[in-house]
Formats: sequence, C-alpha cells, structure tokens
Amino acid sequence: MKRVLVTGAAGFIGSHLTERLCEDGYEVTGIDSFLDNYQRGLKEENLKRLLDYEDFSFIEADLNEIGLTPVLDGISAVFHLAARPGVRDSWGLHFDEYLSNNVLATQKLLEALKDRPDVFFLYASSSSVYGDADVLPVTEETPPRPVSPYGATKLAAEDMFDLYKREYGTRVTTLRLFSVYGPRQRPDMAVHKFLTAVAAGKPITVYGDGSSGRDYTYVDYVVDAYVKIAEKGIEGAVFNVASGKITTLNELIKVVESALGKKAIVERLPGQPGDVGTTHADISRLEEAIGFDPNTDVLEGIAKQATYLKGAGLI
Ligand SMILES: NC(=O)c1ccc[n+]([C@@H]2O[C@H](COP(=O)([O-])OP(=O)(O)OC[C@H]3O[C@@H](n4cnc5c(N)ncnc54)[C@H](O)[C@@H]3O)[C@@H](O)[C@H]2O)c1
Repeated sequence: MKRVLVTGAAGFIGSHLTERLCEDGYEVTGIDSFLDNYQRGLKEENLKRLLDYEDFSFIEADLNEIGLTPVLDGISAVFHLAARPGVRDSWGLHFDEYLSNNVLATQKLLEALKDRPDVFFLYASSSSVYGDADVLPVTEETPPRPVSPYGATKLAAEDMFDLYKREYGTRVTTLRLFSVYGPRQRPDMAVHKFLTAVAAGKPITVYGDGSSGRDYTYVDYVVDAYVKIAEKGIEGAVFNVASGKITTLNELIKVVESALGKKAIVERLPGQPGDVGTTHADISRLEEAIGFDPNTDVLEGIAKQATYLKGAGLI
C-alpha cells in the first residue's frame, strides 16, 4: 500500500483529499497545526471523520517546528496544502503568518525532501498568483503578477519548488486552485459567508458593483485532479484547477437565494485592496492530461454546500 503525507489535513480541501485517499486504499499521515485562521472546532469536525479510517494517522504540529525526517519515512507522495489562506487579511500586520506558513514551512519541507528524490510533491498554489491578468481566461503560461501579499507568498513557494527541482531534482507538480467551494468550506470565503448570512436573514456585504466574477470550483473536482495527477505521476507540470466558467458576484447572490429559497439583503461597499476583478481559467491542459470534466453546475454545488451546512447545524 502506498503511504502519503497530506499537510493541512484538518482544513477544508485537505480533509476532503485525505478522505478520498483513505477511500482509495492509501495509508495517509495527516499533519495540521490548527492555525487560528478560523475556529479550531470546525477543523476538529473535519478531522473526526478522518480518524475513523484505520490507515489514517494524525500529527498535530506546525511544519516549522516539527522534525520532519521521521514523518517522511516511507512516504511516496506529499500533498502540500498547509498554508495561511485568504487575500484580504494578508495586508497589514498579519503578514508574518503568511510568510511563516506559506513560504518558510514550504522551504522546510523541501529541505527535508532534498535527499529523497523518489518522493512526489504536489503543491496547492492559487489563482491569486495571476493577479489581475490582462487576458482571460488565464493559461498556465500567463505571466504571474499577484496583487495581494497572499498571492506573493503562494508564488514565492512556487519559485522555491522550481529552485529545488533544478538544484536537487525534486519531483514536483503545482496545482493552481481557483475559488474552491463545497461542504466544509472555510468560513471566511464568500459562498460560506453568503449562505450563512442569507439563511439567518442577515445582510451580506458586496464589495464593488457585483460584476466581478470568479471561476468557482467544486471541491470534489480538486480532489479528483490531485488523485489522478498523483496516480499518473505527472511531474514537472503546472495545472489550472478550475471549472473554466465565470459566475459574477451578482449571479452568485441569485444562486444562493435559490439554494436557500430566501431573499438576500445586500449592502454594497467599495472594492477592497488586493481583490481581483475576475478570475477565469483555461483548463485545457488538465482536460488533456487527466480527462478533467468539472461538470457540476454552480447551483447544484452550492445547494450541496447548503445541505451540508444545515446538517452540521451551521445554518
Ligand atoms: N480554498 C480555496 O479556494 C483555495 C484556492 C486556492 C488555493 N488554495 C490553497 O489550498 C490550500 C488549502 O486551503 P483551504 O481553503 O483548505 O484552507 P484551510 O485553512 O481550511 O486549510 C489549511 C490548513 O493548513 C493548516 N496549516 C497552516 N499552516 C500550517 C503549518 N505551518 N503547519 C501545519 N499545518 C498548517 C491550517 O491549520 C489549516 O487547517 C492552501 O494552501 C490554500 O492556499 C485554496
């Protein structure tokens, strides 16, 4: 059986990925520091379902503080999802958290893997590395130009992978994820915030005129991309992982309203620093590589997230 490591395993995407890997018969070690970017209780709930798998083991630790050598023994792949996510908070006084969890932790993992050329590294990068691209949809060849400190740290980590690949032959593939949603989504993300506020009859805040768009990606497709890229051993590549479709903020509000059968109260404020106008990915590289077919309609996906939130007593 293959042994793999998932960093950020108690988080939103990491917990989905870990669950799928366990279902597929992998032996998985998960590591997570329970960073306080949101409530620990939500991450503990994510973890609870993983602990039911016999072949799952968990280490609560910060990648920056733990000795990684014993953790990496016998591991064939590292799915590196641990990070301090979120664009808006990356301005101001929390930047040390971004640097530490996104850049320094990544460099530490890379150092620990320098002498293990067989290990395959799959890095969770972000659409934020593109910033406000001049031409949409972005391809993996679009020059990265982040417009937030968060995006800059995700790009810095990508650069670190390139350096270690060149110098030490590290086997790495980068997945640039676009606005992932679905059950267990981080509470700071728009879909979660809108669903919980509208369900509670509270106002939602919309920055800008609502015409900006996002390429929303249902979490199961992200997980599927990870698993297939790992199984096929597609290394040395960069992939956009997205739906390839744009939903504007105003359309998203309508979708949330129909998922809940309730009208939203909308408060509009000016756009925020670091907010990208519209994100839209060309996903043809991933389609060709693994037959990627993200065909869940955004209404269907958001309805599933609403059902999850109801089941969890969160709305
Ligand atoms: N959610 C999205 O839409 C999205 C989009 C693009 C990229 N990403 C990337 O995907 C990854 C997962 O994002 P998410 O939305 O699931 O976030 P999340 O916050 O739910 O999960 C990240 C997890 O990493 C853990 N972590 C952070 N720093 C750590 C450290 N130093 N050591 C150990 N654990 C640490 C956190 O405690 C958290 O549980 C991140 O790398 C993020 O940058 C997410």
